[in-house]
Amino acid sequence: MQRILITGSNRGIGLELARQYAARGAQVFATCRDPQSADQLHALAQAHADRVHLVALDTGHPESIAEAASTIHAQTDGLDVLINNAAINPRDDRLRAFGQLEPDPILDVLRVNSIGPVLVTQAFADLLRRGNSARVVNISSGAGSLEQQANGCGYTYHASKAALNMFTRCLAGTLQADGIITIVLNPGWVKTDMGGPNATLEAEQSIRGILDVIDRLTIDDNGAFCQWDGKRLPW
Ligand SMILES: NC(=O)c1ccc[n+]([C@@H]2O[C@H](COP(=O)([O-])OP(=O)(O)OC[C@H]3O[C@@H](n4cnc5c(N)ncnc54)[C@H](OP(=O)(O)O)[C@@H]3O)[C@@H](O)[C@H]2O)c1
Repeated sequence: MQRILITGSNRGIGLELARQYAARGAQVFATCRDPQSADQLHALAQAHADRVHLVALDTGHPESIAEAASTIHAQTDGLDVLINNAAINPRDDRLRAFGQLEPDPILDVLRVNSIGPVLVTQAFADLLRRGNSARVVNISSGAGSLEQQANGCGYTYHASKAALNMFTRCLAGTLQADGIITIVLNPGWVKTDMGGPNATLEAEQSIRGILDVIDRLTIDDNGAFCQWDGKRLPW
């Protein structure tokens, strides 16, 4: 039975990842900031009582990451897939309007989108080392591609994903010796709270593709920038 850890799994892409992994028989550590209000995750856990575990994990707070690691270490002796999915993209001119940019709100986004995935991976590295062909999948975005944003961009969210891309290359170098494959993955433009109603993909389709990409990864893919449909993206 595959053992999967997902951050930000109470809604959007994270919730659909938890659903599809649960449906195929995996054990899912479905983490989110506030499990008490995660109604859809509770319903999923009820439907798969012994395999879906709700765990509190706020990726912006190291103490929350440490608490979650301690809880999950008590429940499993290995992890096969870690998906760093949680991210924010607040609508705030202090993050995206040149002339109004401010450091603290920008740092809050970098803390969640760029640094959080590294700290989460660090906290679960020992369980990943004991997993079966373990994979770390950092959910990035085309917004993080330097080449695709050659004519300007929205500053903070874009920079946070570009930083995540480089952190992932660093992790890929570190974890390769343990046989762990680490990638960044663009889910496409998906109908979620973040993607909005005009997005081109339903979550079901994007996540079906993502699971297929993760299943097919080999060590040759270590450090790659992939898309939900298996295509490679330019850095
Ligand atoms: N949707 C798209 O079109 C699209 C495109 C490219 C990339 N992405 C990426 O795909 C991932 C998922 O996006 P989405 O569309 O599902 O976004 P979403 O609908 O806004 O959901 C974001 C998720 O992240 C969680 N989260 C935010 N801050 C967190 C924190 N500090 N700790 C733990 N969880 C936190 C949220 O939890 P709360 O409910 O507690 O806020 C929520 O579960 C993100 O990395 C995003 O950048 C999305």
